[in-house]
Amino acid sequence: MKQDQPRPTPRAGIMDIEAYVPGKSTAPAGVTKVYKLSSNENPLGPSPKAIEAAREVAAKLDVYPDGTARRLREAIAEVHGLNPANIICSNGSDEILGLLAQTYLAPGDEAVFTEHAFMVYKIYIQAAGAKPVAVKEADERADVDAILAAVTPKTRIVFLANPNNPTGTYLPFSEVRRLHAGLPKNVLLVLDAAYAEYVRRNDYEAGIELAGSAENVVMTRTFSKLGLGGARVGWMYGPAHIVDAINRIRGPFNVNATAIEAGIASIRDRAHIERSVTHNEKWLAWLSAELTGLGLHVTPSVGNFVLIHFPDDKKHSAAAADDYLSARGYILRRVTGYGFPNALRMSVGTEEANRGVIDALKTFLKS
Ligand SMILES: Cc1ncc(COP(=O)(O)O)c(C=O)c1O
Repeated sequence: MKQDQPRPTPRAGIMDIEAYVPGKSTAPAGVTKVYKLSSNENPLGPSPKAIEAAREVAAKLDVYPDGTARRLREAIAEVHGLNPANIICSNGSDEILGLLAQTYLAPGDEAVFTEHAFMVYKIYIQAAGAKPVAVKEADERADVDAILAAVTPKTRIVFLANPNNPTGTYLPFSEVRRLHAGLPKNVLLVLDAAYAEYVRRNDYEAGIELAGSAENVVMTRTFSKLGLGGARVGWMYGPAHIVDAINRIRGPFNVNATAIEAGIASIRDRAHIERSVTHNEKWLAWLSAELTGLGLHVTPSVGNFVLIHFPDDKKHSAAAADDYLSARGYILRRVTGYGFPNALRMSVGTEEANRGVIDALKTFLKS
C-alpha cells in the first residue's frame, strides 16, 4: 500500500497513454456554414426510420434497456445470417475493442497492430497494462509477413482494421486467411470491419466466416459510419467462449435504450444503407480523381474517406490546407498522430461539401 502518496495515483502506465484526439467539429469564429468531414459520418444522415424510433423511445426513457440488447442482436443476426447468441452489442465498437483488450491482455503481454492503424488499439492495449507493438506497413497497407514476424510467445492479440482508418486500404480475404493461418491458436485475431458496408471489392470479406468458424477470431462492426455515430452502437461476432468471457465484464446496460431502438430500425432500413453506399461509391471515385487531378497524392481508399497527402513546401502543407479549408467551413481531420504529419483525411461528404472542398483546394494550391 502506497500510504505516503498525497493523492490517488493512476495505475502504472496510465499516464503514459496519449489521450485520443477526436476530429474537430467546429470552424473558426465567423464561419457560418460548417461541413464536418472529420469523423467519417454518413453525409445522408441517420435512417429516417431510426430517427422515428429514437423519438418513440424518448417517452420511455425512465425504463432501463434490455441489458442483453436481445432484439438488436436478433435484428443484426437476421440481416447477416448469424446466430444472435454469438453477438455482443456495445456502446460503439470502441467499447468492444476495449473490452477485448481488458479480457485478453495482462501486464507483460504484447498486442500487435500496424503502424498507421486506428489509434484506439494502442490506447486500450496500454490501458490493460500490456505492450503495444506497431509493425511497419507496406505502401500504407497492412503487411501480413511483418505482422507474423512481430508475433512472439508474449503476443495475445493482433488487431487488424480492415479497411484501415485513416488510410482506407484493405487486405483481400486471402491475406486475412494467411494471417490467421500463421498465428498461434492462443492469439486472438480481432478483425475490425468498421467500414465493411462501404467496401465494393470482390476479394474483400468482413470476416464473418472466419469469426464463425475459428476459436480465435472475432469481427467487430459499427453503426457509426452508416448514420448513427451519435447513438453509439457497435457489435462483435465471435465464438461462444469469447462472448461468454466478455459478457462477464461488460457493463450491465452498456447499450442505451435509444441506441437499441435506433439500431434496430437502422439495420432494417436496407434502402437507406443502399443509398448511403451508392452515394459513397460515386463520390469516393469522384473525389479521388479530382484530388489526383490537382496533383495531390491520394491513398487508394475503399472506405468512406480519403487520405490526402500534401506537397512538401510549407505554403501548401497539410497544416496550411487545414487552416485554409477550416476558414471556409470545411473541417477535415489532421492525422499527425497516425504518422501522417503532412496529410489530411476527408470523409466523403454531400455533393455540395465535396465540390466545395475541391474548389477551395484549387485556389489554395494556386496561391
Ligand atoms: C477502424 C475503426 N474501428 C472502430 C471505430 C470505432 O467506431 P465506433 O466506436 O463509433 O463504433 C472507428 C471509428 O472511427 C474506426 O475508424
